[in-house]
Amino acid sequence: MITPENSGARATIRALPASRIRLIANAALGRSDVLPFWFGESDQVTPEPVRAAAIEALSAGRTFYTHNLGEPALRDALADYLSTLHARPFERDSIIVTSSGISALMVTMQALLDPGQRVLIPAPTWPGLSEIPTILGAQVETVPLEPGPNGWTLNLEALLTALSADVRLLVLNSPNNPTGWVLDPAHRAPILERCRETGTWIICDDVYERLPIDSSTDCTPSFLPLISAEDRVISVNSFSKAWLMTGWRLGWIVAPRTIAADLGKLIEFNTSCAPAFVQAGALQALAEDPYQFKERRAALQARAGELLAGLKHFPGLLVPPPTGGMYVFLRIRGEQDSVATALRLIDEAGLGLAPGSAFGAAGEGWLRWCFASRPERLADGLDRFGRWLRHR
Ligand SMILES: Cc1ncc(COP(=O)(O)O)c(C=O)c1O
Repeated sequence: MITPENSGARATIRALPASRIRLIANAALGRSDVLPFWFGESDQVTPEPVRAAAIEALSAGRTFYTHNLGEPALRDALADYLSTLHARPFERDSIIVTSSGISALMVTMQALLDPGQRVLIPAPTWPGLSEIPTILGAQVETVPLEPGPNGWTLNLEALLTALSADVRLLVLNSPNNPTGWVLDPAHRAPILERCRETGTWIICDDVYERLPIDSSTDCTPSFLPLISAEDRVISVNSFSKAWLMTGWRLGWIVAPRTIAADLGKLIEFNTSCAPAFVQAGALQALAEDPYQFKERRAALQARAGELLAGLKHFPGLLVPPPTGGMYVFLRIRGEQDSVATALRLIDEAGLGLAPGSAFGAAGEGWLRWCFASRPERLADGLDRFGRWLRHR
């Protein structure tokens, strides 16, 4: 007999929440009077040399399947890039290219998680990190990130207490989407030590590591310089944010050699391989003049400064400053329902922000503003927000 229970997806998938960012974006679809800052991407196109490299690869007929683990030339280039960035050697065989950061997370978690196993994540959190374990039948538990006048912090004691022997996986996303929290470098050793004792794997979502707000550093604190070959630590990364390549769908994994071949099997059954011409573009991105990379990042840091400076003028706001990434996560006094507030901002201010509840219960009441934008758009957004706050 056909029932609602057996005629659709399995119950876990039916219960997955639809994206609340999409809910807001769809409400404003086709409206030219709304200025959107809801998605996590720059309004700038991928740099021209990267696009040219992909076009050249296509013209040369590079349209065939590639190696499960990525083109050897790109894996070697990533090994060189990471060796320089983290001042320690990396080899090709610990690096795996994937079709996006989210696909890297999916195959990594497919490799690690059995149904019922426990996963610990600081929250608020980007939904990919909490929903993939849910899809796989694992149990997600959160430890809170706490807002303060100098930014968001993680209570190390609370995390270590929660890290019991039956926690299979700890997921750390630093810089964090949506809060801009960055891992305290002094917290790395005690977390690693505890995970060594408990046998807990760590997935570091390092997608925003090249986007510190502090201009004196090139990369936010990473576990990669600290770990040894036996450590159960996997770094997931992406070309999306730091190289303006969101639509290309290319990421990578740094993993212990013991798990690389199994990740390759899972890639075969997810996407099989990343396209050759996309990887050719990424090779060019890694060869980019470091000066250009720094210039682009300096512009993003300037936008963060402008947004924070502008928000200071408005009363009734709680704005813990981000230390990395490309978002400000803010709260308006008296506003509790973030979807309702985001919908009002669309209708009454022509401003599109992401509702905090898109990032789990811990994000409710907050709003996320992506500042990877041209300065004049950002200034316009600030004007609209200020006017709305004065008249609401
Ligand atoms: C924390 C985090 N991890 C991973 C990703 C995935 O990036 P992509 O799939 O575009 O490579 C995102 C994208 O927004 C993100 O915010």
